[in-house]
Amino acid sequence: MNILENKKILLIICGGIAAYKSLEIIRLLKKKGAFVKCIITKNGKKFITPLSVTSLSQEKVYLDLFDYESEAEMDHISLSRWSDLILIAPATANTIAKLSYGKSDDLASTVILASNKKVFLAPAMNVRMWEHKANQENLEKLKNYGYKIIGPEIGDMACGEYGEGKMTEPNIIVNEIEKYIKKIFTNKKFKAIVTAGPTHEYIDPVRYITNKSSGKQGYEIARSLTLNGFETTLISGPTNLEVEEGINLIKVSSAEEMFNQTINNLPADVAVFSAAVSDWKIKNINQKKIKKNTDINLSLEKNVDILKHISNHNSLRPKLVIGFAAETNDIDLNSKTKLHEKNCDWIIANDVSDKSIGFESDFNEVKIFYKNKKDEIIPKMSKALLADKIVEKIISKLN
Ligand code: CTP
Repeated sequence: MNILENKKILLIICGGIAAYKSLEIIRLLKKKGAFVKCIITKNGKKFITPLSVTSLSQEKVYLDLFDYESEAEMDHISLSRWSDLILIAPATANTIAKLSYGKSDDLASTVILASNKKVFLAPAMNVRMWEHKANQENLEKLKNYGYKIIGPEIGDMACGEYGEGKMTEPNIIVNEIEKYIKKIFTNKKFKAIVTAGPTHEYIDPVRYITNKSSGKQGYEIARSLTLNGFETTLISGPTNLEVEEGINLIKVSSAEEMFNQTINNLPADVAVFSAAVSDWKIKNINQKKIKKNTDINLSLEKNVDILKHISNHNSLRPKLVIGFAAETNDIDLNSKTKLHEKNCDWIIANDVSDKSIGFESDFNEVKIFYKNKKDEIIPKMSKALLADKIVEKIISKLN
């Protein structure tokens, strides 16, 4: 059985001469047993006809955002939910620009913006357009959002020029998709646990001790693991974040609850401890609100170190245990000490004193310390892209 059998691919065809090659993409995908639904943009329609697309895909073709007939049958949200992945081929400079700004003025851009699926882009344009700084910056943004770019290639162009900008050949595009689906299929056997966010250690019913963690990096790692096929449980302290479809979300408040839920959800193949767990809790939580005229002296006791406990557990330790280190100084020394003392396989360290990365930012820069190999720096990038990079490393380690 081919890996693409019964997989659902949403193909978006934009307006460029390479649109004729999209017909070959449909043919190859169908030959491998995939279901292919297509959206053709307004300009795409100038290069190929809906009739040829519908004949090859054997599905209705979607054209306009406000098409009452298709909205009744399948609205733009369901269309993006229906797919296992989205492929934009050819992806024009215009569509790339729109996506990088989150513009959604037609069906194609609306579906992509509303999607939580992996998006592949096969750009095709004139070499000058491809090389233009604006286009390159837009692409960089899309890569940071986690979009995967296939090509383009160098060669003769329809406009008579020569250079980079030719759409990658359909068989290579289909190969890339096959490789991605295969990877997800192989990863289905893996189970992952991710802890994320801060914890709340209550003093009385209305007050608690917490920290500045937003939970973003952990949520992105859980998203990327799920998208890559892992059965993922996210044990999260209080955050304002939305969770991706398909993740088993367990909400907790205190470190103790996080610890209990982590134990309950083991065994797993990999555990990523990204939560900023409070090191202390209140010894005796006041059951009533403490009045301000009371003299208080908070008595604290240590919380269990979840990472250290699991890492040293005889039977429950996952094959791969990854900790984080939030540091303001002596990053290398502190991280290596944590790697050793907590007996984990990797420590991902970040400098939380730098406001442009870390806790509240959407960006991060980390240094990974490994038990058995030399450390490496992953330069500043979006937390989404960084999560993808970390997950790629997890996958190659587990396989
Ligand atoms: N961690 C944990 N349970 C705790 C404390 C920390 O699981 N009670 C985990 C974190 O999720 C992270 C790693 O340990 O993966 C390091 O956390 P960090 O806050 O950087 O360090 P601490 O161990 O708390 O030490 P310190 O505060 O002294 O830096």
